[in-house]
Amino acid sequence: MVQKAVLVTGGAGYIGSHTVIELLNAGREVVIYDNLDNSSYEAVRRIEKITGKAPIFYKADILDKKALLEVFGRHAIDSVIHFAGLKAVGESTQIPLDYYYNNITGTIILLQAMKESNVKNIVFSSSATVYGEPPVIPIPETSPTDAKSPYGRTKLFVEHIIRDLCTAEKDWNAGLLRYFNPAGAHPSGILGENPTGIPNNLMPFLAQVAVGKREFLSVFGDDYPTRDGTCIRDYIHVVDLAKGHLAALKKLEENPGCVEYNLGTGVGSTVLEMIHAFDKAVGRELPYKIVARRAGDVPNLTADPTLANKELGWKAELSLDDACNSLWNWQSNNPQGLEGFPADAPKEAVINYL
Ligand SMILES: NC(=O)c1ccc[n+]([C@@H]2O[C@H](COP(=O)([O-])OP(=O)(O)OC[C@H]3O[C@@H](n4cnc5c(N)ncnc54)[C@H](O)[C@@H]3O)[C@@H](O)[C@H]2O)c1
Repeated sequence: MVQKAVLVTGGAGYIGSHTVIELLNAGREVVIYDNLDNSSYEAVRRIEKITGKAPIFYKADILDKKALLEVFGRHAIDSVIHFAGLKAVGESTQIPLDYYYNNITGTIILLQAMKESNVKNIVFSSSATVYGEPPVIPIPETSPTDAKSPYGRTKLFVEHIIRDLCTAEKDWNAGLLRYFNPAGAHPSGILGENPTGIPNNLMPFLAQVAVGKREFLSVFGDDYPTRDGTCIRDYIHVVDLAKGHLAALKKLEENPGCVEYNLGTGVGSTVLEMIHAFDKAVGRELPYKIVARRAGDVPNLTADPTLANKELGWKAELSLDDACNSLWNWQSNNPQGLEGFPADAPKEAVINYL
């Protein structure tokens, strides 16, 4: 049987690049489609360094339907993993139209191009933010959804759009993956999260404090109803998360229609526990200050991953220490991230009909 390719939108980004590595290691052919808005072509070079295989890369936008159709026409693609999107909760409250346009309109255009190209399998990057403030911890997939920010609502609306499509057209299959908190980096130490500007998430921020790029970490509130007063999140190693996508692709081969899964560990850690775990990896205590609560934060987001364990045959296997050690390995070897390396794609990889 001829091996078909997987189109990975946002494949140069943090989770996308780690997933591309797992796909290539599993012998899959990969086509990356990314506008490099929040990533660097250097990540693609590093994927090749790690795997010894060069993924096909296009610098193009999911809003650009002609470019999508051209890529679907050039390659024998049978499924899409859709990471491309804007992802900062805070920023989404400042520029909601950009978030709705990029994340929702972009996904609709992608789905239209898929349909016209007869590609009807999609794995979508959703998020635990769709649960809002959940009534039960750990959170099952059946928990009510109630996203609290424009970003979270883009994820929730796209979930609905994809579910409606699968209901209307029975030859579509979709895996909606609700990620909890991705953390860590590739164990090689040459690929990891490469935030542009001020990191939005705890772990990349803490890593920048450790290399002296930021003075201290602000802990937003210590008066939550948790064991030490700081918020609890379910931190999942990015390599485990990446492997969850391969399991989801396999599930789609069973024609399940639209299915949703929590990708988390089932174990929550407080902000203070994460700081101490990362201190251990770095070998010293990192400075932090308790400041006021941040709007929109909820006390506890911990996954119940039972469904993914059972139906995908997937389970998070790496520990919090693995996440902290790999993050420190990456950050200490690359204190400026991928800054200073050529960020743009080679000319022949750029397609743009917009
Ligand atoms: N990192 C997290 O904490 C987290 C948690 C839950 C869900 N997610 C979701 O997972 C996905 C990947 O997250 P990440 O952390 O790897 O983010 P990232 O920013 O590192 O990767 C996203 C990639 O998409 C690209 N992109 C954005 N808009 C595009 C467009 N219009 N056309 C083509 N490419 C575009 C960016 O250049 C970037 O490379 C996102 O959809 C995000 O919302 C992330």
